[in-house]
Amino acid sequence: MNLKPSLLIIGLTAGLLALPTIANTAFEKPSDAVEYRQSAFSMIGTQIGDMGAMLKGKVPFNAKRFAMRANNAAALSKMPWEAFIPGTEIGTANTSALSEIWSDNENFMKKATVFQKYADELATVAATGDQKKIGKAFGNWAKGCKDCHKSFKD
Ligand code: HEC
Repeated sequence: MNLKPSLLIIGLTAGLLALPTIANTAFEKPSDAVEYRQSAFSMIGTQIGDMGAMLKGKVPFNAKRFAMRANNAAALSKMPWEAFIPGTEIGTANTSALSEIWSDNENFMKKATVFQKYADELATVAATGDQKKIGKAFGNWAKGCKDCHKSFKD
């Protein structure tokens, strides 16, 4: 193919101009970001519900399913944070996200980082099938929910 140099330059410039938008956010509208993070939390809720039921003996413990849930949880625990973009706090959007997420972002991100770390540890331990260790790792991860919600979620 024989591209005209001028077209090539226009194409390159457009590509460069588009880059910062792609790097900053994948969300076109604030509501897209809110829906994305709420969906991630909702799916996290499904994982923790089934894992908790297995550990409490409400349903039989199944090491393979537990490991699958823990892997899901590890992936999902990394997802909500990029969607806390400016202009999506309570009052401006259909959300329970308190404005402290932005005014005390360091603390929020610290909790989010610890949460991800414990989710990774849970996935690692779940692969061993050792229920005692799994219970402890699960507790470490699960503590993060309330610990964050009490300061940052309405
Ligand atoms: C570092 C902070 C943080 C951690 C850790 C965290 N959450 Fe949340 N969660 C939030 C915030 C903030 C919202 C509000 C999101 C919104 O409405 O935009 C939320 C919302 C939710 C929702 C409601 C989603 C919806 O559909 O509106 C559920 C369910 C939820 N979290 C479950 C969990 C569970 C379960 C855990 C632990 C396994 C957890 N969260 C860990 C901050 C956190």
